[in-house]
Amino acid sequence: MKVISITNNKGGTGKTTTSYNLGAALANRNHKVLLIDLDAQCNLTIAAGVPTTGRHIGELLLGEAGFDEVVVKKDGFDLLPAHRMLLSYEYRINTEPDSGFFLSENLEGKDYDFVIIDCPPSLGSLTVNALVASDYFVVPMQGENFAYVGLDEILQLTAKIRRRMNPRIKLAGILFNRFDMRTKFGQMVLQKLMQNPMVRVFETSIRQDVSLMESTAFAQSIFAYAPDSRGASDFSKLCDELLELYGEEKIQQ
Ligand SMILES: Nc1ncnc2c1ncn2[C@@H]1O[C@H](COP(=O)(O)OP(=O)(O)OP(=O)(O)O)[C@@H](O)[C@H]1O
Ligand SMILES: [Mg+2]
Repeated sequence: MKVISITNNKGGTGKTTTSYNLGAALANRNHKVLLIDLDAQCNLTIAAGVPTTGRHIGELLLGEAGFDEVVVKKDGFDLLPAHRMLLSYEYRINTEPDSGFFLSENLEGKDYDFVIIDCPPSLGSLTVNALVASDYFVVPMQGENFAYVGLDEILQLTAKIRRRMNPRIKLAGILFNRFDMRTKFGQMVLQKLMQNPMVRVFETSIRQDVSLMESTAFAQSIFAYAPDSRGASDFSKLCDELLELYGEEKIQQ
């Protein structure tokens, strides 16, 4: 089982879009996939067409519900849904000893091939739980100026987690979303990022595509909603790149 967190403390960079469609791409390749929505906005839960009023990940983390009570089985993947009240659960999780390990403990012994975690746009204890449970993390990023400032915070947090809580965690890559790396500005941003030896950038980037926005509104993956779209082609390529990296163990420490 490989656990992958999709994380960026900046809002609206494409975390949910990536979680959902990367999960769908892996499921299309016959992998057994679990998606986890760790965001009180519940965007992934809604995109998956699952009600946000049922049992949820917050209850699982605090031991108020078991895995089998919370998990929702959909066509092609399973989901641990979020809930609007997740922030108050995060607050309560904070007050418990060793609370960073709650998610990893709940994933122990599960027989999924891939677990994809959609993180909230913050670096609080829910994101810490995600990173402690993960083998890899992916950082979707829009290429605007100073995007890399937030990246330092993520890399500092993951370095601490690697030292103290989870030596396995590795950066799978930064994923450019809605951004053309081939422009002069794109190259400048890329160069700035590559000055940090810890950084790896996916060759695949996700182009702007209105079908990506529409598909989530219709609670469908991009492959079901618009299989011939640019979005479907980009996420399929991303999935191949990730599987190749994982196979070749090239993912950086
Ligand atoms: N490549 C793209 N082309 C077109 N629309 C996109 C693309 N990527 C994301 N979007 C749209 O941009 C919005 C933000 O994307 P998304 O919800 O995936 O970001 P997020 O990082 O999960 O946001 P938050 O931080 O609020 O959780 C959504 O409406 C989504 O449909
Ligand atoms: Mg989101």
